[in-house]
Amino acid sequence: MTIVADEFMRDTTVAEIRCAGAERFAPVAASAAGFGPLLQVDGVTLEYRTGDTIVRATHRVGFDVHAADRFVLLGPSGCGKSTLLKAIAGFIAPVEGEIRLDGRQVRTAGPDRIVVFQEFDQLPPWKTVLHNVAFPLLASRSLPWREALERARHYVDKVGLSGFADSYPHQLSGGMKQRVAIARALAMQPKVLLMDEPFAALDALTRRKMQEELLALWDEVRFTLLFVTHSIEEALIVGNRVAVLSPHPGRLRAEFNSHEFDLGSIGGTAFQSAVKRLHDRLFESDVDSAGTGRAEARR
Ligand SMILES: Nc1ncnc2c1ncn2[C@@H]1O[C@H](COP(=O)(O)OP(=O)(O)OP(=O)(O)O)[C@@H](O)[C@H]1O
Ligand SMILES: [Mg+2]
Repeated sequence: MTIVADEFMRDTTVAEIRCAGAERFAPVAASAAGFGPLLQVDGVTLEYRTGDTIVRATHRVGFDVHAADRFVLLGPSGCGKSTLLKAIAGFIAPVEGEIRLDGRQVRTAGPDRIVVFQEFDQLPPWKTVLHNVAFPLLASRSLPWREALERARHYVDKVGLSGFADSYPHQLSGGMKQRVAIARALAMQPKVLLMDEPFAALDALTRRKMQEELLALWDEVRFTLLFVTHSIEEALIVGNRVAVLSPHPGRLRAEFNSHEFDLGSIGGTAFQSAVKRLHDRLFESDVDSAGTGRAEARR
């Protein structure tokens, strides 16, 4: 069954599964009742316009992210995950619906939302690790030089790269470069950290290690994370909540609570059954897909 934004329950005061008919793996942990969501994606439709062609990337997607959530967007290639992150980052405006951060409509990019991408080449190669991490703090005038370097050093330490503070990106492995990108993002102390398949290009062992490190960092810093992946296993490990999107154009199909799982859960019965349920939801046929496909028609 396809779940559209219109079918959502409107109570946003507690962290609960909000899709009509959505499945849940565990009783939902009520987050501080009375606290509103930090990020609200409300019936958001996103489109690309090239000449007279319109490509609809997402259709009326809605979800809430609460402070310190590790919220995962899981969906097949082309379902609009990256586009949603770009819209939340403020690079693209919705054609329908609204995105709100702390109750304020998102209209432009800002230092309160930082994106970590999949690519290893997101670091200026002429800057050392330390200066890469300090650079956005200086460019956004968030901190003066000395404090920026201090904070950068703190986060370089946090991601385990203190011995490489003076190295250049070309001297680092892919995993190390991603650690620098994460340190750089966290150093900005954004309200929401947006990660677009940050570990997808890493080998399996490094990917596992990075997931472990990200969770350890979250345990320490308690940042709010919006994480995109198309790996079911990664979604369950990294997320405390997982939103499943349909194929292109992305619609919200279901939302799952996954806070009980971590790297130690892999292989266990509960984890395997959760993988199966997410898999079934991900691969179920979408009765509406023929209709929504028309959104791509030339105008
Ligand atoms: N700049 C663009 N111009 C036109 N169409 C685009 C553009 N970027 C993405 N699209 C289209 O929007 C849809 C969603 O793309 P998007 O990159 O958001 O998907 P995704 O879920 O991130 O996929 P993947 O898992 O492969 O990264 C796709 O149909 C894609 O072709
Ligand atoms: Mg993408």
